[in-house]
Amino acid sequence: MDRVNLDGKPIAPISICMIGGGGFIGSHLTEKLMSETSHKAIVIDVSSEKINHLLDKSHPWANRIEFHQMNIKNDSRLETLVKASDLVYILSSSSFRFSCSVFIYFFESFFHFYLFLMMLFLV
Ligand SMILES: NC(=O)c1ccc[n+]([C@@H]2O[C@H](COP(=O)([O-])OP(=O)(O)OC[C@H]3O[C@@H](n4cnc5c(N)ncnc54)[C@H](O)[C@@H]3O)[C@@H](O)[C@H]2O)c1
Repeated sequence: MDRVNLDGKPIAPISICMIGGGGFIGSHLTEKLMSETSHKAIVIDVSSEKINHLLDKSHPWANRIEFHQMNIKNDSRLETLVKASDLVYILSSSSFRFSCSVFIYFFESFFHFYLFLMMLFLV
């Protein structure tokens, strides 16, 4: 059954670009888009490890999915791919930034706990 918009009209296929689309969310989102819609996916990532199973030419959606292996920090092809898309999801993340946020979270927790102990001893 065709998907319809709020006016009850069929939704026309669009091109969806996913930067970092080879990651956890991107690979699941791409699988859902390919199996349940007629949209086109332009997947960009430094690694295709988690999305390789969707890129097989035997899939019925083989002509609707493109994978571009690149580092978006220093690849001029990005602009062309984004301009060719109707919608862009930015899903790329840096594991270093994640590690820093976890470190800050624990540091703050221990700091607050330490302050709490100090107050207990002072009163
Ligand atoms: N997974 C979750 O539960 C969750 C929850 C909240 C927010 N988020 C956010 O959603 C986004 C996606 O999450 P995810 O779990 O899919 O992360 P993920 O790490 O699995 O995927 C991110 C992808 O980005 C790619 N990437 C990183 N730098 C790149 C670069 N310079 N060029 C090209 N590709 C690059 C990585 O190779 C990776 O495949 C992240 O920003 C994350 O912080 C995720």
